[in-house]
Order: sequence, then structure tokens, then C-alpha cells
Amino acid sequence: MTDAHRNDPVSLTRYLIEEQRAGRIGPDLRLLIEVVARACKRISIAVGKGALGGVLGDAGSAGQASINVQGEAQKKLDVLSNEILMEANAWGGHLAGLASEEMDHSQPISGDYPRGSYLLLFDPLDGSSNIDVNVSVGTIFSVLRCPEGVVTPTDADYLQPGTAQVAAGYCVYGPQTTLVLTVGNGTHAFTLDREIGSFTLTTRGMRIPEETKEFAVNMSNQRFWEPPMQAYVGDLLKGKEGPRGKDFNMRWIASMVADVHRLLTRGGIFSYPLDSKCAPKGGKLRLMYEANPMSFLVEQAGGAASTGRQRMLEVQPTALHQRVPVFLGSRHEVETAVKYHADHDAA
Ligand code: AHG
Ligand code: MN
Ligand code: MN
Repeated sequence: MTDAHRNDPVSLTRYLIEEQRAGRIGPDLRLLIEVVARACKRISIAVGKGALGGVLGDAGSAGQASINVQGEAQKKLDVLSNEILMEANAWGGHLAGLASEEMDHSQPISGDYPRGSYLLLFDPLDGSSNIDVNVSVGTIFSVLRCPEGVVTPTDADYLQPGTAQVAAGYCVYGPQTTLVLTVGNGTHAFTLDREIGSFTLTTRGMRIPEETKEFAVNMSNQRFWEPPMQAYVGDLLKGKEGPRGKDFNMRWIASMVADVHRLLTRGGIFSYPLDSKCAPKGGKLRLMYEANPMSFLVEQAGGAASTGRQRMLEVQPTALHQRVPVFLGSRHEVETAVKYHADHDAA
């Protein structure tokens, strides 16, 4: 970079070109991220129109709700966001295939177009219960390499641990639209400049404070939690007078993107633990579309991410739509939560 341009705003495009020049990403990954970012801009516009765009409410027809592979009723914006991401990524030649929380199976790129060497996984719209009430929602994505020699990837080719991710990110559609990205060299935030339609680097190298006094969990599930989670949160609630010796505050937005964005900004622990309702499915949140990309971003910002019993990024996936318990955020707080599980299991 010459001195003349040192203080210019850094667009996402420029950031990616500089990463490419430094040899950390190749042109195909750069294109992939640009395409995903462009799709996120379209989703942001659709989200922002709300009732004026006719995008609120449930998907389906003739009073019949549309149910996805997760067994959840789809919102119109879940379906629309999925279509936007699928269409945007169909023809660029950077991908071998895609998988989405909203689709039963992964899809190889159509034979009409060249196939690239990456696999893209996404939760097209996270926090769908918040769409109709005008609260932040988002898109989460994860990028893997297509295994060597595989031309037409199937679901099994996506079953790689989170450590194999080459990029991950999310875009939060809130008062600001912000894209948060890692290609394995720190976690960086880009705010959408709505006037010029460009993502601009606003925080280079996000850092999650190691200590926190803030936790995020759906407390209404308390009675269904496992004993170590009961003990951990019980001690948080005892505050200054309890074993933790400090008062904790609680936040729960019910959009993982928005909750994670808060902890990447000012610290905190986010948890969706195992409970007796979601235990038969393994947890509530999805490993490949939610837990892994968020864990990569959090680790790259100096935080930690765990299932409570294992580092998240080392979980070997066994199914595309696999669910897991999640603890992530401020490093020391996640380690504390993990210790409650270890102590319980040892006893
Ligand atoms: P999605 O809208 O993609 O299905 O994900 C919703 C997830 C996550 O974003 C959030 O943290 C959690 O579900 C909220 O769950 P509760 O409704 O149980 O609070
Ligand atoms: Mn989600
Ligand atoms: Mn979703």
C-alpha cells in the first residue's frame, strides 16, 4: 500500500485483494466472498422493506405452512434469502456445491457452469422468529474445500470438522447491516454504506475480552437443562455474594447472529445448551450452519467455543443437519462453563 492511500476507507473488495496479494486467499475464494456479500446486500434490502415488500409472515400456500428439513415452519424471508444465496452462487465457477439449513440435501453446482473447488454452507436467515417484530436477523456462512478428486459433491463430502473451514462469516441486518468475516487471519467487521452500496472495513481485528459479566441463554428452558448447566447458571445468578464474586447481566435476542455480534463487540458468553427437549436431536443449533462458522469467528477474535465437553471446531460431523450444544464467547467464561461440565462428569 502506498502512503497516498493509507488512510482511505478500506472496502471489502480492497481488503480481499490485499489478502490475496499476501497469499492468504486465492482468486476463487475472493470471488466467493464477494458473491456472498452481494447476496447479503440483497437480503438486507428485502429485510429492510418489511411489510412494504410483502416479505413478512409465513411461507406456504392455501393455509398450509411450509416445513423445512429441520421440522420448522419457514418464514417467507427464510425462503427468499435461500433463493437469493442459491441464485447468486450458481454460475460464478467458484463453487462445487452448496448446502443450506433450509434444504434437505446439498446441491452440486449445475453442469451448465464450471465447477470450482469450494463448498458453501449457510443459514440463509438466522433468527426468523424476529423477522415479523422488526428485531435484528442475519445470514451465517461457512466455506470448506471440496475434497480432492470429487467433481460432484454429495452430503458426505461436507462432513468436515470446523478446523477445515477456510472462511466463515455472518451478516447482521440490524440498525446497521454489518458483515463480519474471517479467512483465518483475524475477525473483521465491514459496515454497509447504504448510500454507495459498499461494505467498508470498520473494525480490523475484533477482540473479545477474556472476562465478562454478561451471559446470553434462553432462561425459559432452565428446568430442562442438564445438572452442570443448572449449577453454572445458578452460580452466575448468585452474583457478588456467590462463588463467582460478581454480578452478571443477561441478554437474549433469540437471533444467534445478533447475540454473537454483541459478544464480538463487548464480550459475553452465549449458550444454547443441551436440554431434555432438544436432547433427542443432539441440541438446538446446527453444527455446520451456525456453531462452526460462529466458533471460527470467535476463536479468530481470541474467544473460545465448545460443546461444553469438546472444542467445537474439532467435532467430527456425522450428518449435514447435525445439532450440537453451544458455548462460545469470552475465553475465561467459556472455560468456566466447560469446567462445570468436566467436574460433573468426573463426579
Ligand atoms: P433459525 O432462525 O435459523 O432457525 O435460528 C434460530 C436459533 C438462533 O438464532 C437463536 O439463538 C435460537 O434459535 C433461538 O431459540 P429460542 O427460540 O429457543 O430462544
Ligand atoms: Mn439459525
Ligand atoms: Mn435460519
